[in-house]
Amino acid sequence: MTVHAILKMGDARLLRVAQPVTHFDTDELHLLVSDMLDTMRAANGAGLAAPQIGVDLQLVVFGTREANPRYPDRPLVPPTVLINPVITPLDDAEEDDWEGCLSVPGLRGLVPRWSKIRYTGFDQYGDPIDRTVEGFHARVVQHECDHLIGRLYPTRMRDLTQLGYTEVLFPGIAPSDDD
Ligand code: NI
Repeated sequence: MTVHAILKMGDARLLRVAQPVTHFDTDELHLLVSDMLDTMRAANGAGLAAPQIGVDLQLVVFGTREANPRYPDRPLVPPTVLINPVITPLDDAEEDDWEGCLSVPGLRGLVPRWSKIRYTGFDQYGDPIDRTVEGFHARVVQHECDHLIGRLYPTRMRDLTQLGYTEVLFPGIAPSDDD
């Protein structure tokens, strides 16, 4: 088990456009996925993108089998390893909701996202993934995949007055060490 340090906003490695994965089902890729899952779980994250641990590849992990203490009221998203993702919005509908990010610790912001998307890509074995999702699941995928094009959620916000400290905005939620 290897828990990696998570890069924080201001680190230039979070601003890169990540490279596609070209070899699947390799020992190196399986080790990276295992480390990312360990790191995400140790931080109670809803998801984690490879650039957040300084790895310049199009790979994200997200989802949990149990309710996430950072998002106790949110619906469950199935545990997923998503590589070389492509996101397509299914219509023009957007919705605003609060997001946090392990690379922006202690803060939450109100972020518009597509309500309903299709996403495709591959798992670590090279098997295709093709899902149509909405709501929180769609939000998590859009947030994580934004890390692969160097975007952090504050750059998606339209009203920066809706950015604040979690402990002030949501005093009822017990913060984890990282948020
Ligand atoms: Ni994030």
